[in-house]
Amino acid sequence: MTCFLGIDLGTSAVKALILDEAETVLATISVPVPAPAHPTPLASEQEIGSWWDAVSTALTRLAQDHGPALARVRGIGLSGQMHGLSLLDAEDRPVRPAMLWNDGRAEAEAEALQAQGYDLARILGVPAMAGLTAPKLMWLQRHEPASLERARHLLLPKDVIRLTLTGERVTDVSDAAGTWLLDQAARCWSDRAIDTLGIDRRLLPLIVESPAPTGTVRPEIARRFGLPQGVIVAGGAGDTLAGGMGIGVVEDGRAFVSLGTSAQVFVATDSYRPAPENAVHSFCHCLPARWCAMAALLNGASALGAMSRLAGSDDIAGLLDEVEASFTGPSPLLFLPYLTGERSPHNDPFARGVLFGITSDSSRAQMIQAVLEGVAFSLADGVAALNAAGTSVGAAGFIGGGARSRLWARIISAATGLTLNRFAGGEHGAAFGAARLGRMATGQPLDAGMPAVIETIVPDLSLREAYLPRVEDYRSLYRALRPEFRRGKPT
Ligand code: XUL
Repeated sequence: MTCFLGIDLGTSAVKALILDEAETVLATISVPVPAPAHPTPLASEQEIGSWWDAVSTALTRLAQDHGPALARVRGIGLSGQMHGLSLLDAEDRPVRPAMLWNDGRAEAEAEALQAQGYDLARILGVPAMAGLTAPKLMWLQRHEPASLERARHLLLPKDVIRLTLTGERVTDVSDAAGTWLLDQAARCWSDRAIDTLGIDRRLLPLIVESPAPTGTVRPEIARRFGLPQGVIVAGGAGDTLAGGMGIGVVEDGRAFVSLGTSAQVFVATDSYRPAPENAVHSFCHCLPARWCAMAALLNGASALGAMSRLAGSDDIAGLLDEVEASFTGPSPLLFLPYLTGERSPHNDPFARGVLFGITSDSSRAQMIQAVLEGVAFSLADGVAALNAAGTSVGAAGFIGGGARSRLWARIISAATGLTLNRFAGGEHGAAFGAARLGRMATGQPLDAGMPAVIETIVPDLSLREAYLPRVEDYRSLYRALRPEFRRGKPT
């Protein structure tokens, strides 16, 4: 039976899986990627070469442990962290480390672009924000012109992997969507954006639809990992869109909440409906003639990881048990999870994490509970931004590493008012969606079914009532601190 390989290049790990035609997952592998470096407080960078190193390790292990399945692969789909700026020279060598999705250095460039109003944002799907690709390119123009002079090619993270696999410089519409250079309605580079921003068009790769074939795996790479010759590589997708594809969130109105390093509230749409005033991201989806409306949060389960470390423990499951054992209702503490600034709904690269209301009686469990609630309140802000933009969300799939916690699911459901569905195999996420795109690239028909629901969490009404005023307190704390974040802004 023919097989398909999905490869997701995340910020903290490369995940890969092999699917057969019955969509049975035959093999999965996860290989860590070295953590981003923060050479200055707003910077977030990764070595471009470390991405292929991790993919290569993943393929080597798959070849060792699942050689027969890998030998039956006919199509590969790539997915990856979005918005990353990777610049290569004429010999395809990295010019400098990649500037990632949570790099906030281009704040002045984003602000200057946004000061021109929302006209361009309505074409490009989102207001100018520091972490998007093009504002970071403008930052380099100003701060590192020498890097830009050497640059010949701009690629998004997963497309760097494609270049090694196939030799082709191509991206797909759903990943290009996060560059602030894509005309989302026309699904091609925007001449107006390129001219306004003064971008050298020759840097940009070709764009294809996500299920389209973009080339075949080079013979020497195929031999190295025991892949057959001629394996087709699909356009692939940005990780959030591939995540949607993996759980069948492609039909108009279907939604998911993803709680990984970052977090999203995502709704698939069958038309392009820009709403930049609400900092909603209206991006091309990874099927033709589909788009999405997304509240994109920079701080998801990563906030819990960081606060657990501060609490002196890396036993997150143990901490969650501690919270569950003492849980009676909202924590007396409030937590703003904006450790790396925030995109939706604030578009504020200067925002930072805050734990508010500590007394001499405060406990570790209260603090960790406040972290779970802070992320939930931030998701409630995301839902409110979507609602204000005319996109309603009622029920949503719940995916990502954070979705494993039932307690967190209960808190999020109560704070947002959403009914959350947990899926069998929901942890396969973007790599599964990517494999589906790899399958389509071989000419097989679309299969974007939803996985089996293993649990439905409906909002607990009394908890919801208790949380509603806390969400208001949370919003008011951010409003009060916004000018302070700006005053003490890191450089
Ligand atoms: C989406 C976003 C994140 C990154 C990192 O807009 O910024 O999902 O793709 O995973």
